[in-house]
Amino acid sequence: MYFKNAVLGLIFFLFAFLSVSSAATETQSSPIIDYTWPFHPEYSKNGMVVSEDSLASQIGADILSQGGNAVDAAVAVGFSLAVTLPKAGNLAGGGFMLIHLNTGDKNIALDYREVAPLNASANMYLNQDGSVNNDSIRYTAKGTAVPGTVAGLVYAQQHYGRLKLSEVMKPAITIAEQGFPVSFALSQSLESRKERLLVCETSAKTFFKAGKKDYQPGDMMKRTDLANTLKIIAEKGNSGFYQGRIAELFVKGIKQHGGIIRLEDLKQYRPIERDVLMGNYRGYQIATMPPPSSGGVHLIEMLNILENFPLAEWGPNRSKTIQIMVEAMRSAYADRSKYLGDPAFYKVPVTGLISKLYAKKLASEITLGKARNSNKLGPDNPIPYESPQTTHFSVIDSDGNMVSNTYTLNFSYGNGHTIAGTGIVLNNEMDDFSVKPGVANAYGLLGGEANSIKPGKRPLSSMTPTFIFKDGKPYAATGSPGGSTIITVVLETVVNLLDFNMNIAAASSWPRFHHQWFPDVVYTEPGISADTIENLQKMGYKIKEGRTLGSTQSIVVIDHNQYGSSDPRRTGGAAIAAKSGSKTIEHK
Ligand code: GLY
Repeated sequence: MYFKNAVLGLIFFLFAFLSVSSAATETQSSPIIDYTWPFHPEYSKNGMVVSEDSLASQIGADILSQGGNAVDAAVAVGFSLAVTLPKAGNLAGGGFMLIHLNTGDKNIALDYREVAPLNASANMYLNQDGSVNNDSIRYTAKGTAVPGTVAGLVYAQQHYGRLKLSEVMKPAITIAEQGFPVSFALSQSLESRKERLLVCETSAKTFFKAGKKDYQPGDMMKRTDLANTLKIIAEKGNSGFYQGRIAELFVKGIKQHGGIIRLEDLKQYRPIERDVLMGNYRGYQIATMPPPSSGGVHLIEMLNILENFPLAEWGPNRSKTIQIMVEAMRSAYADRSKYLGDPAFYKVPVTGLISKLYAKKLASEITLGKARNSNKLGPDNPIPYESPQTTHFSVIDSDGNMVSNTYTLNFSYGNGHTIAGTGIVLNNEMDDFSVKPGVANAYGLLGGEANSIKPGKRPLSSMTPTFIFKDGKPYAATGSPGGSTIITVVLETVVNLLDFNMNIAAASSWPRFHHQWFPDVVYTEPGISADTIENLQKMGYKIKEGRTLGSTQSIVVIDHNQYGSSDPRRTGGAAIAAKSGSKTIEHK
């Protein structure tokens, strides 16, 4: 904790210094070495992997050096994080992967979000008096949705990878079987969630030493059961997880922990390839995730609103800039509460929500220098404009193929339960549904019919894996964890890059803020100057200072130079360059 505070203190001291003189810093940065900002990215020409865990990043970079492409490396990272970053890396969660194939200039949005079990029902989390039983959603397997991660990673690898599944899974199997050094971040995270994990005997055995003693940084941790599960998947692919022995153990464990997932649920699970959601912002093309994530729709909606204001002229973290961005956030999250859900069950007005005309209308309702009141502002009407604890990693290879992937168990370590004999930690993703209209979920998000529970439906997400293109060429890959704050964290990263011309390390380090309609509060990180906060308060904003927001893992490409940055807010992450390019072997 002390170390993290010291790092944040240093970053925000630097920022406080800059916030006094930031008007002078808005010069055009050099495309190759940008010394304008006091934060510097990693560099590569051969490919790069950026994730929240340095060992997983190294594994991905090694796969690139061995001739794998960006998808091979991403899949290797996805399986490795299940071993080394178990709070969010997973086999039994779900997520979204954006893939850019530079040859053929193709973008793919892979939805491997979890789904509600086939015998789920709208009122399944309501007590007899109609109140919501949050404990059953969040801390028992009744809140576990049918997992999508293995199906998603295997699908991506088999359709778009270059190596064999067994090759890309080998490093994850090796570290799980032979052990890996516990990072400072992992030891801290386990300590902070000890109470949740000790409720489950298997979690206690998996994540603590004999006598329930904590792992210290540098201790070796083995994940033998997980290694066996990974071996079966490496050999059998999807059916190794969704059918056979692992599926049987999974269903048995789910039942023991109060859940309702059956073998039939697992057998039916399929990832979905969707059309990438496209927008544009100040001449750049934004490629992002469509529903059932709300992330892409609202990222584009907010960018469209912001395009009506001269943010570059105003500068980063000025009260004017923050005010307009907060108002854009307020409008987007109000719309989210009504219009967003699984498109297979609810007609999401995507085209209306991302229309420039609709954004112009929303922008015209913002008064510069004056806070609006969320109680007086509900979801707007995009229809007339119709004519649609999580972790992120980004990968690029030397051919310019990119992956931007966000996946999750929802809370840190999901509901805290681990399935005996498998090493698999359970998600509590059912909490992302709107379990009762007007009752907020764990992230304070409100929802209604669009996101109600139905069998086989995907819960609404905020995950926002995103690419930026310039003149059709890859410019950036980014994304973040952070529940409801994911969308605004990605928004601020995009604005820092495109409006304020920051390099990716500065764009990732800059102090952040967040608003989500309700609660009607602006959350601010340390480092936004006292004057700015005071100005915002005078405009009528309620400010809650102190919370850190997100953990972006991003890459920017300028003239084939690749720059990576792992967010400094969390320790343990790394941007790691591949030693050599990925063109050395033939496609499989
Ligand atoms: N579980 C958080 C999200 O998907 O938004």
